[in-house]
Amino acid sequence: MNMKSFHIITFGCQMNEHDSERMTGILEEQGCTASSAVEHADMIILNTCSIREKAEQKFYSELGRLKKLKDERPDLKIAVAGCIAQQEGEKILSRAPYVDMVFGPSDLSRLPEMVEKKRSWSLPMINIAGDPEYHRKHIPTTRIDRLKAWVSIMYGCDNYCTYCVVPYLRGRERSRPPADIVGEVRELARQGFKEVTLLGQNVNSYGKGLEGDANFPALLSMINDVPDIERIRFVTSHPRDLSDGLITALRDLPKVCEFLHLPVQSGSDAILRAMNRRYTREEYLGKIRRLREAVPHITITTDIIVGFPGEQERDFEMTMDLLEEVQYDGIFAFKYSKRPGTAALKHDGHLPEAIKEKRLAQVLELQGEITSRNNGKLVNSVQEVLVDGMSKKGGTLSGRTRGNKAVNIDAPAKLIGSLVMVRITAAGMNSLTGQICE
Ligand code: 5AD
Ligand code: SF4
Repeated sequence: MNMKSFHIITFGCQMNEHDSERMTGILEEQGCTASSAVEHADMIILNTCSIREKAEQKFYSELGRLKKLKDERPDLKIAVAGCIAQQEGEKILSRAPYVDMVFGPSDLSRLPEMVEKKRSWSLPMINIAGDPEYHRKHIPTTRIDRLKAWVSIMYGCDNYCTYCVVPYLRGRERSRPPADIVGEVRELARQGFKEVTLLGQNVNSYGKGLEGDANFPALLSMINDVPDIERIRFVTSHPRDLSDGLITALRDLPKVCEFLHLPVQSGSDAILRAMNRRYTREEYLGKIRRLREAVPHITITTDIIVGFPGEQERDFEMTMDLLEEVQYDGIFAFKYSKRPGTAALKHDGHLPEAIKEKRLAQVLELQGEITSRNNGKLVNSVQEVLVDGMSKKGGTLSGRTRGNKAVNIDAPAKLIGSLVMVRITAAGMNSLTGQICE
């Protein structure tokens, strides 16, 4: 059997995008080539997401489409990776017996072995045990971008928010040793990358379980010292673990961008408690205040869940009120979605879809106004922009401010990869427009 070319379809978060970059790196090292078209690949990998029901539905409908392809080309191999693979294991086979391989997020380093075995093996292969040494491994990686790179610093999550399936699928928190991470960033700088985004479910608790006193602000400081890397970002921070040390790092380390994604989920203390978030509204607001005192122009974004079980109208009003109070630069808002195995499934007071829909529309409308207003305040300001490519509209270049806002600029293509100072001339809800300062 031939397994020379592959195509990966990725669902979900940046962590999954980055895992796909790793699978690509691993397979290329084995002599396989990435095929841009599904039709031409010998193997198709679906890197799946299970965070909400909708993501799961999207995967199953894609899998249905691939069945037709497999009927036409029985030699085609189909692999299911990522969170649904971890969650369902061999149950995927009862729904889709034409799947050849199932492997979880911490088993992707075993891809070479699996591919090799598969060449002579006709039975489906299931690998979801998780490699306990995964966080200590060097994994070859082929990155999508040439300027901006994701770098995993830790895996898993120990928080057990009651709605969230992640701790069950990505396992306990494990941090990569600082020397491995810094080594990877140095190599990225050598290859010409300008920006790194450090990835973890809960980056502020980085270092737990490592020898010595590894912690997140210290890691940021080490990466800040890597020459030729211009910008450092990170996701995601849990508000409870946001330390004064991190606020100081955001203030003092020149390469750490003034940007923080700090998921609040709800503005109601009763709901925060039911979610097991382990902070109160007041504690969260206190951290936002301290952040803004230390870093006055910081961009802050958040995640919101509406319609959590038991969410009364007055709880929801507290969330709306919190959005007004914080004046975020942007939010990701979601309707609560029942996830298998999570504690919230058994909570009382699950809400009808219509209420969730209505509340979601309300938060999005309110936030739309706030985002537009905040972006409008940037008109006439001068922003440092990393020019990263052509804008989607065509004709102009695109880039990001340090606060991670998209900017379209009229400038020659040779500036791609440079940091330029840009005067903002117009602002919409999703992007800014600007001119290079002479
Ligand atoms: N339902 C809705 N949203 C969820 N999230 C996580 N689990 C669920 C769920 N069961 C959201 C949270 C989290 C983001 C990544 O996804 O807001 O911060
Ligand atoms: Fe899920 Fe909470 Fe962990 Fe984030 S912190 S991954 S929401 S359990």
